[in-house]
Amino acid sequence: MSNPDARLGGPFTFPGTSFTVHRIGYGAMQLAGPGVFGPPKDQDAAVGILREAIASGVNHIDTSDYYGPHITNQVIRKALHPYPENLVIVTKLGARRPPDGSWLPAISPGELTAGVHDNLRNLGIDALDIVNYRTMGSIHGPAEGSITEQVTVLADLKQKGLIRHIGLSNVTAAQVAEAQAITDIVCVQNNYNLAFRGDDTLIDALARQGIPYVPFFPLGGFTPLQSSTLSSVAGRLGATAMQVALAWLLHRSPNILLIPGTSSLTHLRENLASGQLTLSSQVLAELDGIAGAGAATH
Ligand SMILES: NC(=O)c1ccc[n+]([C@@H]2O[C@H](COP(=O)([O-])OP(=O)(O)OC[C@H]3O[C@@H](n4cnc5c(N)ncnc54)[C@H](OP(=O)(O)O)[C@@H]3O)[C@@H](O)[C@H]2O)c1
Repeated sequence: MSNPDARLGGPFTFPGTSFTVHRIGYGAMQLAGPGVFGPPKDQDAAVGILREAIASGVNHIDTSDYYGPHITNQVIRKALHPYPENLVIVTKLGARRPPDGSWLPAISPGELTAGVHDNLRNLGIDALDIVNYRTMGSIHGPAEGSITEQVTVLADLKQKGLIRHIGLSNVTAAQVAEAQAITDIVCVQNNYNLAFRGDDTLIDALARQGIPYVPFFPLGGFTPLQSSTLSSVAGRLGATAMQVALAWLLHRSPNILLIPGTSSLTHLRENLASGQLTLSSQVLAELDGIAGAGAATH
């Protein structure tokens, strides 16, 4: 299967935009050093992963200037600038990394504006394709609370031409609706995977609006998914557990876009091949049971 559209899960257009991407993309967070802080162990390897992703047809990369901080965007620039015309780079704002490596909110108008300029400078571009406003929320996920001030700042920066489109991350359904009263929202990026399915209702609601849902931690994040059911299904299909976890997401809803993260070329190739896995309704039912059974993510 050489057509990348078919190989990489088929095409999806962010609503109200000219951005059409393959459903399987790449998340760049794993390219920073340990704890998403400092430089990668092997910068040439990081550059190689990005170049292979693009050569394989990937045209959707997720990043943030607070990965490293600055370093992930600088590696993306080094590897890919001048960027292919069809590449959509999605970045996010809402946090900062002080020298001790902690994660602190950066949500004042001044911090959000500075964050846009950091992204522009480090990526080497004049306007950002899509910027997600990422709420800090709680340790468990998003927390209710108004995001009007922050979304209004981003809408102003869009008006000024520094941002093309706006998305949201780590948000509740009420926050999506609040933001949509201010500006068009072109994507939502929350924590979701085979074992962690708190957003099932939100995914379906966004699908009805044509808005993509982009799960972060699609493989379980820093502690990848482990489940005997997943391993058994993978064994029967001749695939790896991570490929089945990604294929399940592609089957879960047509508005799901994937941005699995990896610092390994072998894993990148494996993840990109997940679009070629077809899961029968019987297998899907089996996998659907994992969340109820409480799969481990460690
Ligand atoms: N909006 C947000 O708040 C937020 C939060 C977190 C992440 N993100 C974005 O979402 C993207 C995806 O999340 P993530 O990277 O944190 O987590 P993930 O994609 O769920 O999993 C990444 C982990 O899985 C491992 N892995 C990847 N492919 C594998 C494979 N085929 N077999 C075995 N292990 C594999 C990686 O290790 P190796 O490096 O060894 O492959 C890494 O430890 C990030 O890159 C980032 O762009 C957004």
